[in-house]
Amino acid sequence: MTVRPGDVADLLAPLVAFRRDIHAHPELGFHEHRTSARIAEALTELGLEVHTAIGGTGVVGVLRNGGSDRKIALRADMDALPIQEQTDLPYASRNQGAFHGCGHDGHVAMLLGAARHLVRTRRFDGTVSFIFQPAEEGLGGARAMIEAGLFEQCPADQVFALHNWPDLPLGEIATRPGPIMAAADKFEIQLVGRGAHAAMPHQTPDALLAAAQLVSQLNTIVSRCTPPQASAVLSVTQVHGGHSHNVIPAEVRLVGTVRSFDGAVQDAIEAALRRMCGGVAASFGLACEVAYTRYYPATVNDPEAAAQALQAAERCGATALLAPEPAFTSEDFAFMLQARRGAYLWLGQAGEGESVPLHHPGYDFNDAAIPVGVAWHTAIVEQQLSA
Ligand code: NI
Repeated sequence: MTVRPGDVADLLAPLVAFRRDIHAHPELGFHEHRTSARIAEALTELGLEVHTAIGGTGVVGVLRNGGSDRKIALRADMDALPIQEQTDLPYASRNQGAFHGCGHDGHVAMLLGAARHLVRTRRFDGTVSFIFQPAEEGLGGARAMIEAGLFEQCPADQVFALHNWPDLPLGEIATRPGPIMAAADKFEIQLVGRGAHAAMPHQTPDALLAAAQLVSQLNTIVSRCTPPQASAVLSVTQVHGGHSHNVIPAEVRLVGTVRSFDGAVQDAIEAALRRMCGGVAASFGLACEVAYTRYYPATVNDPEAAAQALQAAERCGATALLAPEPAFTSEDFAFMLQARRGAYLWLGQAGEGESVPLHHPGYDFNDAAIPVGVAWHTAIVEQQLSA
């Protein structure tokens, strides 16, 4: 007996209502107090063992059935983005400057729906942990939960997570063995001279001119310093310096990001970046400081778990796709996959017409994806913890 999206049709209306309530009350990373309280309340009502305040606002519900000691964990992220929503939805954000522009409201609803369905069907033998994680958007909530003892309190042999994917049609689920999302690094470069009157440029090393040359040089790193078959991207995204038309600024700051999938490539890029900064600064007579932060590692699927995730997609009637390549965006589920074997999936959510991308102020999670997500979460539990 396998679960189908139609089996959870009766759960849909309350899940949509829950999702839209979360959408109307978005909360930024580590501030998901209302969200996590609502989730903890819903899990308690279901009779689950509930762990709260793991890594800040993290919540876990634990459901046991039968006598097997096999354990699986499923994770949804809860946080919103610091973006002003630009939609006319009746349930649009009521919190200024916070917006569920990445569909984490939908992730929460789908995982809660799976808990509801598994509580009533119980066609599994083992333990399921439903992890509701704070602060996925750049703040490392997954790492915070792990450091707070997530997998000691709620042990798991495998961990899975899905993310809605606007590029993929509704009803399709995709993943791949190995890297699926990129490692994300941030660099900040401070070039420091003395500053001078713009009419007397010989009195200072020119931090602004050096910055301009450095932007060009940094853009040669991927093409010249990494193997042609490797995938990586470097983007300079900010230039700060100067305040007057007739003053050469004393300091200029460059900021940007690097994305890669392989540790050796990441090392080569950081080394090249530091070398170029030092070289350009020295050639101008400037001081230079580089802060290079590797904030999210690559999200790397266990090949066996990725195959099992696709198998579960087929079991629940979704179209299972082997994704041909990873995405260059990043995801802090990477930390959970460093701690436990598992896989990360993309859940199709594109309906009719043009699909609005993630992190766009006009984005909204597609509620039609809820039954598919609930069915997949249920299917992976029933498959991995088969009774
Ligand atoms: Ni997201």
